[in-house]
Amino acid sequence: EPLIITGKDEMRQWSRSARAQGKTIGFVPTMGYLHEGHLSLIKESHKHTDLTVVSIYVNPGQFSPNEDLSTYPSDFLGDIQKLKSIPGGVDVVFHPQNLYDYGNNDGLCDGENRVKTEGKVMSCLENNGMGHETWVRVEKLEKVLCGKSRPVFFRGVATIVTKLFNIVEPDVAVLGKKDYQQWRIIQRMVRDLDFGIKVIGVDLVREEDGLAKSSRNVRLSPEERKKALSVCKSLFNAKSDAESGQRQCKELRDCVVRAISEAGGKVDYAEIVDQESLEPLEEIKSPAVFCIAAWFGNVRLIDNIEINV
Ligand code: PAJ
Repeated sequence: EPLIITGKDEMRQWSRSARAQGKTIGFVPTMGYLHEGHLSLIKESHKHTDLTVVSIYVNPGQFSPNEDLSTYPSDFLGDIQKLKSIPGGVDVVFHPQNLYDYGNNDGLCDGENRVKTEGKVMSCLENNGMGHETWVRVEKLEKVLCGKSRPVFFRGVATIVTKLFNIVEPDVAVLGKKDYQQWRIIQRMVRDLDFGIKVIGVDLVREEDGLAKSSRNVRLSPEERKKALSVCKSLFNAKSDAESGQRQCKELRDCVVRAISEAGGKVDYAEIVDQESLEPLEEIKSPAVFCIAAWFGNVRLIDNIEINV
């Protein structure tokens, strides 16, 4: 039975007393609707620390007004069952109500951290409904790849992860390479701001047919689900083409864009970038990662594959 903590003071107290007893703490931040990808992060955490904290919090600060905050899937009780099924389980599930409520609610926000303006549901952070105005930005890394079409996303991620780090005070944080850019941004932020936390990246977990596991996959129709396989399939092909000598990124990218478009997906980006700087490459000479975002219906999926030749 994991201990479920909703208050941030209570969370910090738990961590401090665990630390006082000489225990190390691993932390896995999530937005819930857990799947094998999330569970693999928890299993990794077990290898590094005595105790593991998982947070389940859908962060309004990382959604733009036009994005899917209001339809983001959730199943808290199902999540708890899944967490119980892992060998070793988890020690704490941190499940806060609203991490932007500083007790000065001006009445703009509903309990779900949203505000309705002119009939449009938007994150209350957009208009500063709660008086939150401090943001963490990783200036270069946040602008590339997903940052181009989601301009406030990584600022929201870096800020909530900072807040969670300050509340949970972990020794180790475990992130998935499914969200490759997010992992690199958190790594850079921890280095640049001297958080005393070790960041660990865990390999992407796929469905049996190759589709990258994602909480958003449930929103794909059976037909879209089939079309979406073009993403991982074309990534696997690109990797094997690179390994058999094709080092020209333009050729590799054209192939992938064509395959996804022909399957009926709309490519947001398909870029081959340096694994650390995330800068686009023309030719694969150093460790590279091929990152894709594509739309199938109204679901945006991301996937990536590392290419080390
Ligand atoms: P969420 O999408 O719930 O993902 C939580 C963690 O699980 C992230 O580190 C993500 O990379 C990892 N993950 C998701 N699918 C995975 C897969 N198929 N294989 C491996 N790891 C996977 O990412 C977020 O939440 C949020 O942005 C968060 C960091 C919690 C901040 O709000």
